[in-house]
Amino acid sequence: MYKINDNYLKLPGSYLFSTIGRKVAAYSAEHPEKNIIRLGIGDVTQPLAPAIIDAMHKAVDEMGRAETFRGYAPDLGYEFLRNAISEGDYQSRGADIKADEIFVSDGAKCDSGNIQEIFSLDNRIAVCDPVYPVYVDTNAMAGRTGTYDPKTEMWSDVIYMPCLKENGFAPELPKETPDMIYLCFPNNPTGSAVTKDQLQTWVDYANRVGAVIIYDAAYEAYISEENVPHTIYECEGARTCAIELKSFSKNAGFTGVRLGYTVIPRDLKCGDVSLHALWARRHGTKYNGAPYIIQRAGEAVYSEEGKIQLKEQVAYYMKNARTICEGLKEAGYTVFGGVNAPYIWLKTPDKMTSWEFFDYLLGAAGVVGTPGSGFGPSGEGYFRLTAFGSYENTLAALERIKQI
Ligand code: MLT
Repeated sequence: MYKINDNYLKLPGSYLFSTIGRKVAAYSAEHPEKNIIRLGIGDVTQPLAPAIIDAMHKAVDEMGRAETFRGYAPDLGYEFLRNAISEGDYQSRGADIKADEIFVSDGAKCDSGNIQEIFSLDNRIAVCDPVYPVYVDTNAMAGRTGTYDPKTEMWSDVIYMPCLKENGFAPELPKETPDMIYLCFPNNPTGSAVTKDQLQTWVDYANRVGAVIIYDAAYEAYISEENVPHTIYECEGARTCAIELKSFSKNAGFTGVRLGYTVIPRDLKCGDVSLHALWARRHGTKYNGAPYIIQRAGEAVYSEEGKIQLKEQVAYYMKNARTICEGLKEAGYTVFGGVNAPYIWLKTPDKMTSWEFFDYLLGAAGVVGTPGSGFGPSGEGYFRLTAFGSYENTLAALERIKQI
């Protein structure tokens, strides 16, 4: 008789955004007359930029001609894209990441979930609390997190690093020593950022205790402040302790297109075992790369035209972020984030729990957000709104919130 991976049975409920999707669908079915504004999941709403569409059209045509047709893509991604990433995201910022240290994939969500496969199940993970649920969920699926306590909503073997108003939503070094540290800055869900000096502290710590940092830089394009690092490799010593994950979803609208990459520097070694070699081995077997057409679309992100068009797109969403922050403040809310990230983290009013506020906002204003407690126990009493809606919907949502 076959057996299942019973780690899955330990997982609480369903994936956060699936739960929200179901709740909203049920509410919609009951109230078909209501026009619901979705500022919940961080999904983009602006169409792909013209430079990207042109590149895709061109690549589609190439695929239709025998002389330019392409079959399987190289395991690690096409060189044209890896070169563009290396130059555009690293070398131009003084971070020495070479094209052959980049693994192109079908998205950072998959990579952030899959990367734990190359590490021992004995490793202790440390996560920010609140945190993007994929990091903990995938470690739980693998059997690395111990048992789940529904009362505390915590796993016995996970080191939680509270990110609270008191510490500016930036984690402090943990008291217990972790083996794998998940960091995401600018942060999802709190919208907070850390300075280069703060991040350097983490890099020094990881090198000192022999931990690996899995650094999610998905929201890097939204950084507006000078002293906030765009990549962990701006920090000295990061090449020997950090893996970086990057998405094309948030900066270029690829949520439906799917493209991302992972950087594993060649200096990153566990003893004399190269993590780069392990991930390359994994990538070869379990290929989760992206099609040629999509990789050409990714290349266009780094073209002169693409850069200008995407800067405008980011500015559009950040205008929404400012609108939400200012509007909520006027309405008497306490708000955080929204300066270096497209997320606004607000304190729920009248001591409502995060889920109570979710229901309240949906019922009274027809606005969907994400309950902070869905991201971890320290998110209780908070709520996340995304700036990824259209400007019109963002304004309309604020008007409705002001009126309740
Ligand atoms: C979020 O809303 O937290 C993210 O958009 C979800 C994701 O990127 O998978």
